[in-house]
Amino acid sequence: MDHTKVSTEMIMGCKNPLCFIFSVTHVLVMCLAFLKAVTPANFLAVLTGDAAKVTGGSGKVLKSGPNDHVFVYFTDHGAPGLLAFPSDDYYYLLLLPLLFIACESGSMMNHLPTDIEVYATTAANPHESSYACYYDEKRDTYLGDWYSVNWMEDSDVEDLSKETLQKQFKIVKSHTNTSHVMQYGNKTLSHMKVVEFQGNPKASIQPAPPVTLTPVNEPDLTPSPDVPLAILKRKLMASNDIVIARKYIREINAHLKVRDLLRNTMEEVVNKVTRDPKKSQEILNDKQDLTEFQCYQKAVEHYKSRCFNWHKSEYEYALRQLYALVNLCENRYPHESRMCICP
Ligand SMILES: *[C@@H]1O[C@H](CO)[C@@H](O)[C@H](O)[C@H]1NC(C)=O
Ligand SMILES: *[C@@H]1O[C@H](CO)[C@@H](O)[C@H](O)[C@H]1NC(C)=O
Repeated sequence: MDHTKVSTEMIMGCKNPLCFIFSVTHVLVMCLAFLKAVTPANFLAVLTGDAAKVTGGSGKVLKSGPNDHVFVYFTDHGAPGLLAFPSDDYYYLLLLPLLFIACESGSMMNHLPTDIEVYATTAANPHESSYACYYDEKRDTYLGDWYSVNWMEDSDVEDLSKETLQKQFKIVKSHTNTSHVMQYGNKTLSHMKVVEFQGNPKASIQPAPPVTLTPVNEPDLTPSPDVPLAILKRKLMASNDIVIARKYIREINAHLKVRDLLRNTMEEVVNKVTRDPKKSQEILNDKQDLTEFQCYQKAVEHYKSRCFNWHKSEYEYALRQLYALVNLCENRYPHESRMCICP
């Protein structure tokens, strides 16, 4: 594998939905071998170089020193203050000692201190979803995320030994027209060249030269939370067999019903807590910034165990309801009153 450039193929070549790309002296692409091994605990162990704490997977950890640059690319579902790993969640609170993640949700990064040597960019601001793109008819799925694709495509066409992180941030931000691409942390670091993180400037081999990409006519931009529904609709449109079409219609209706159930349940939860219909509407229509992390984590864990677990694929959309728990905590509703929330 050509280690000098993080290319689209390299990312696509990873069989897991979650790949971590680290650059420490050489670029090391680590697709944790089994999905089960992609946990917040392993993620932290890999980053802190603590091999003893890794369970499953390849067992490899970072062997970085004080002069190394570490680059992390994270892509998966997010919600306010949490990253949804395949079977577990990574809360903002866990993250405090080492914040170097770029993720779907700016809410993981908007409290990043500026006086540490960490720089982060995110696909979206704390209140937005990111967007999927490049629908593939053959595989019935979206191949990319608009922000990541814009980053990778920029990396393909630029001379990374000349381009700074700041310049790349501006280009990616201007192309990502469906959400607000954000930058956080110590912005002095953004004057560094991209090649310090993507590629190996010390290697004797020349970095891969910039390439020209053919323009894509239709990027198929779709909000990430709508992806399962959009895939079903596309399959329905493409089918000309009445039996199969009926099956897709049933699946679409079932999906919409679950969405309603999730929305209605959260409304009931909020009603139970506020005991005031007017206040409830305010809570359900607001998008507050998360600062009450402890209250929120408790509420989220409670909701996940008593109501809906978004790690079950049919309940993935539950992540889109968690903002209401942020609003409840920010309005300081005592969490004891939420102890039996699920109707
Ligand atoms: C930001 O990073 C630079 C470069 O590593 C460092 O010199 C500087 O001290 C950092 N800024 C702050 C406020 O810590
Ligand atoms: C965003 O840009 C893409 C590609 O240039 C374009 O196809 C799309 O219509 C734009 N979307 C919005 C919301 O502006």
